[in-house]
Amino acid sequence: MIHSRFIKSSIGKKTIMAVTGIFLMSFLLLHLSVNLCLFYGEESFNNAVSFMRRNILVKILEYVLASGFIIHIIFGFLLHIRNNKSKGNIDYAIKNTTSSFGSRTMIYTGFLILCFLIIHLMNFMIPMKYKHVSDYVLVISLFKNPIYTFIYVFSFFVLGFHLNHGFQSSFQSIGLSNKKRLFWIRKLGFFYFWFVCFGFCIIAIWFFFH
Ligand code: HEM
Repeated sequence: MIHSRFIKSSIGKKTIMAVTGIFLMSFLLLHLSVNLCLFYGEESFNNAVSFMRRNILVKILEYVLASGFIIHIIFGFLLHIRNNKSKGNIDYAIKNTTSSFGSRTMIYTGFLILCFLIIHLMNFMIPMKYKHVSDYVLVISLFKNPIYTFIYVFSFFVLGFHLNHGFQSSFQSIGLSNKKRLFWIRKLGFFYFWFVCFGFCIIAIWFFFH
C-alpha cells in the first residue's frame, strides 16, 4: 500500500513530523494569547479560560491536539531510531557532519519538553478539573514557588531551542522552502522562537516577583 510505504519512509515520517509540528506551533500561539490575559487580572483570565473550555470547537480541537502531540512524539522517536541505524552508512555519515547542533539535539530537547508537559498538566489541568479554586489563583500561586518558576523558565528556553530548529525544518520537510524562501523562513522562525519563549518566560518571572 502506498500509505504504509509513505509512513515507513524517512520522507513520510518527516512530513508527518512537520505537519503535526506546525499544528503544535499554532497551538502555542493560541495558548500564549490566553495566558497573556493573566496581565489583565483575575476576571479577564478566568473568563478567557472558561470561554476556551465551553467552546465546542476548542473541545474538538483538544482531541486533535492530544493526537498531534502523541503522533509527533512517536514519529520523532521512530525517526531518531532510523537515523541511529543509518550511522554505519557512509552517505549518512557525510550528511551528518553538516547537520546542526539544533537538529542533532531535537530528540533530547523533545524529551525534556515531554517531561515538562507531564509536570505542567499535573500542575494545572488536574487541579482545575477537580478543585474549586480560581484558575487565576492556581496559576499565580504556582509561580510563587521558586522551584517551579525555575523548571518552567528552563523548559521555555529548551522549547525555544527546539522550535528554532523545528520551525525551519518543518517548512523544508513539506517542500515549502527554497534557497530564497529559506532566508525568510529562518528569520520568521527566529522571531517566533523569541516571541514564544519570552512571552511564556515573562509570565512566570513577573508572577514570581509580584
Ligand atoms: C507561563 C506559561 C504557561 C502557563 C501559565 C500555562 C497555563 C495553562 C493552563 C492554565 C492550562 C489549563 C487550561 C484548561 O484547563 O482549560 C494549560 C493547559 C495546557 N498547556 Fe499550558 N501554560 C503555559 C505554558 C505551556 C507550554 C510552553 C506548553 C507546551 C509546551 C503548554 C501546553 C499545554 C497543554 C498541551 C495544555 C492542555 C490543553 C489545553 O487545555 O489547552 N503550556 N496551560
